[in-house]
This record gives sequence, C-alpha cells and structure tokens, in this order.
Amino acid sequence: MTLNSLPAWPALQSHYDDISGERLRDWFAPQNDTSPTRAERFTYDGGGIAIDFSKNRITDATLKLLVELAQQAKVAERRDAMFAGGIVNMTEHRAALHTALRATADDAPFQQQVRAEKAKMAAFADKVRDGSWTGYTGKRIRHVVNIGIGGSDLGPKMVVHALHHLASPELDTHFVSNVDGADLYNVLQTIDAEETLAIIVSKTFTTLETMTNARSMRDWFTKQGCPEDALSKHFVGVSANPEEVVKFGIAKENVFEMWDWVGGRYSLWSAVGLSIMLSVGPKNFDGLLEGANKMDQHFRAAPLDKNLPVLLGMLGIWYRNFFGSQCELVAPYSEALHFLSAYLQQLEMESNGKSARLDGTFVDYPTAAVIWGEPGTNGQHAFFQMLHQGPTIIPIDFIAVLTPEHPLPDHHAKLLANCFAQSEALMLGRTLEEAKKVAGPGKEELATHLSFPGNRPTTTILLDALTPQTLGALIALYEHKVLVQASVWDINPFDQWGVELGKILGKVVEADITAPSADPAKHDSSTSMLIARARNALKR
Ligand code: F6P
Repeated sequence: MTLNSLPAWPALQSHYDDISGERLRDWFAPQNDTSPTRAERFTYDGGGIAIDFSKNRITDATLKLLVELAQQAKVAERRDAMFAGGIVNMTEHRAALHTALRATADDAPFQQQVRAEKAKMAAFADKVRDGSWTGYTGKRIRHVVNIGIGGSDLGPKMVVHALHHLASPELDTHFVSNVDGADLYNVLQTIDAEETLAIIVSKTFTTLETMTNARSMRDWFTKQGCPEDALSKHFVGVSANPEEVVKFGIAKENVFEMWDWVGGRYSLWSAVGLSIMLSVGPKNFDGLLEGANKMDQHFRAAPLDKNLPVLLGMLGIWYRNFFGSQCELVAPYSEALHFLSAYLQQLEMESNGKSARLDGTFVDYPTAAVIWGEPGTNGQHAFFQMLHQGPTIIPIDFIAVLTPEHPLPDHHAKLLANCFAQSEALMLGRTLEEAKKVAGPGKEELATHLSFPGNRPTTTILLDALTPQTLGALIALYEHKVLVQASVWDINPFDQWGVELGKILGKVVEADITAPSADPAKHDSSTSMLIARARNALKR
C-alpha cells in the first residue's frame, strides 16, 4: 500500500482541481452562506476546545474525502494500537504511551508505575513549595533550574510560561538547555546557590548539552561553598536511565523515573514535568493531565468527521500534499503561549520530518511541514506583510484565549479584535477594483500595491480561558494531529534517527578543535578551515 494508491488520493486530487480556483469570500457571501452557515458547519467542539475551520479552502465534499483518506490510511487502527500499548515505534521496538501518563482508567497500561512516580513527585513538590525542603544553609528553595534540552526542556518551559499566572510566588523557574555557556552563565548571575534546586532532566542521561551543563552546575555549587555531602539537597534527576543519574552523583532517592515507552517530545506529562509541578503545584499539574485526558477520550471516541485531531491533521495533509504548502504558521494571540511554536516545532518536525515508510521504502510525497510562529500581535508588525501579500500561501492556526488571565480587559478586547480581523482580512483580501477605489482618482498605479489576493486559509482555535485543563487539551490535540498525519504518510512519528549523524560528527569535530595532536585538515576544505579558525581563536 502506498499513499497514492489509496482511492481517496486521486479523488482528492481531482477535487482540488475543481475547487482550488474558488474563493472563500464567495463562499462566505451572505447569499451563498445560508443556514447552516459555514461557521456552523465547520466549527467543532471537543475536549474543552472549539475550532473554527470555516475559513479554510474546504467544502463539505473536501472533508468527506479527507475523512475517507484517513479511513483508508487506517488512522483509527494506528490510534487504537498506540493507546493499547502496541509497538508503534517499530524502529526502536517500543510502545508510545504518553497517553497512559494521563489516563484515569485503572486498566490503562503501566498505571501502578505512573501513579507511584506521580505521588513521589507530588510529595517532593509539596516539600519544596512549603519551604520544608531546604538548601545547605537551611534556607528555603527560591530558584528551580531545569537543565535539559529538546523534549526535556521545550514542553516544561512552554507550560511553566503559559501557567505563570498560577505559579508559586516563592519560586522562580529557569531553563538552561544550550551548550553555549552563555545560557547557564546568564542564569547563574541571577541566582543564589543556597536557595537553588537543579533538576537534571534527560531521558538518556547521556546528552552532550545536558551533561555539560549539569557538570558545570555542580562545579558552580561547590565553588559557591556547598559541601560535597550537601549536594543532594540541590540536585534531583529525571531519567529513564537511573543508573547513570546515580553515577553522576545524584542521591538515589532524588531520582525520578520516566520510561522508554515515553518519547522525549511527548514527555512533559511524566516526571519530566517536575518543574511544572514545582511551579504550579500538584493540583494544577493534575489539571493539565485531566485536560489532555479529555482530548484523548475525544480522539478515541468521536467519529472521524467530528474528531478535532483528525480534522486538524487531515487539513494539514490537504495543504501540504495538494496545495504544496511548505510551512504552517502557529500564531497564538497570547503572550502566555510564547513558547508554543518552539515546542510544536520539535513535536511536529522531529516526529514527522521523515522520508522512510514503515515498510522501509522511501516516500514520494512531502511529509512534515515547517512549523514556525510568534505570538500575535507582534507578528503582525513583523512578518504578516508576507502572509497577506506574498505569492506564497501559508496556512495559519490562530489560537485565541477568550478570557484573559490578567486584569487588563481593555488590552484583551484589542488583542482578540486583532486576531479575528487578521483571519477576516486574510480570507477576504482586497480586489484590484476595490484597491483602485482606496487609492483614489489619479492614483490607479498604486492599486496593485494596495490589493490583497485573499483566499488565505486560517483555522481559529478558541480556548475559554488559559487553564491547566485547556492547555493540556491543546497540547494533546497537536500530539494526536502528529499521529494522524504520520498514519497517512505511513511513517514512524516516534523515532528521531535524523539527529544522530550530526551528533556523531560533532564529537569528531570537537576533538579536532580541542585535542592538541588532532589533524583538522582531514575534513572537507570548508569544515577544516572552520576548525582551524576555531582552534586559533580558542588559543588566544
Ligand atoms: O537529539 C534529539 C533528542 O533525542 C530529542 O528527541 C530529545 O528530546 C532530546 O534529544 C533530549 O534527549 P534526552 O532527554 O535523552 O537528553
């Protein structure tokens, strides 16, 4: 079976040929948009989230065909296999059971381990939050530094930032990920060793960046005066490789476990989310899990044609594989969701940026789109020009939170107005005729510059408020979108072999930069020249 051989594929191709010349503004014209309106037909609720798909280049027939493609590609079967703990990550021979981390059913897989670890996290978090866990001089902890990278950083960082309005005022949370010493150094300038807790988060506990930062952090503690035998008050570890954590010098009782059946970029629900729990407390952490579980239940039970992750995923396929769009913009109109697009970049691109099909053949169609984004309204004053008038179509997910988490309602009305106005403008555009009128008599040459093609597809995701529950549901929505697309593209979303080659060569290059006896000339001329310049610079 290949994607192009599924009957819905050529049907979608010819449907695309039929409707790609049609205009959203005509579909929305009052005489055409009669009851039930497009907004009524294409807005769906699920798991505490509402999504308005109506400003997309779709008709009822498009959705019908996309759902048929999902059925033929066995999306539901892949979904069920994942929830049941099947070996869906076949190249690493692993299950992908992030959903078990937020399950409520007693018979969901691994519940004993999951619940025991969560209870251990909560007991620890309570002690830190109430001040009974103290540092080497007896002072309470006021700074938490999460050291990790990729999935061991992006998810917790995104959530801690998003739920800042619920954070303990006693604790500041910092994130250090980059091997660039500036990342750690800058944080060290703002904290006090006596009041700092470091969480070393690494599924493998071998990642170069994390281990380098962890060692430098330990050296800093001792230089600041923390006795070796008191380091255990300042270091905890999170890993699926607890032996390595203990070897690093972290006390056994300070090790929190995750498991190989949780993928790094799907792991914020596990002990990897310890910084979240410390910041917002165990109850709010449970709220996050509860919201994600609600979306899980929706994904499992809702019919495919009303299933939010299925619709979101299939819409991505529509633009990527039929319109040829290369990227998708995620534009949260929410400062709190500042790090969402960075998080989604790893989630979507590390998961589905693949060319190998499950049967070992190569795909002959595009897979993951480039995901990028910035919060609105900032983006409007930076790159939205291109979205409106550039020749490239970029589908957009607008994310709006209806009730603000701050007491400045005047700002919020403006924020929401901008979000909704952008999607309206992108949909409507401005014809040349309309632009001529705007330009005014005698200034017709300006009209081209004042015209907008419109017909630009956008999806609006609405959250009632930014709560742990709605945030959990939003994240799970995107996690499942990834699975839906991976099923259609027939790829494995749970491995990441593509990051290996750079890691292997990185070690060789590092030795060639730092080892006195190394021969930097053994690489291609470009790499050798760069190494030689770095060697000279480091000698200065
Ligand atoms: O290099 C990619 C990656 O393996 C990601 O998949 C992962 O989230 C990140 O590195 C960090 O890995 P670890 O948690 O094992 O340190």
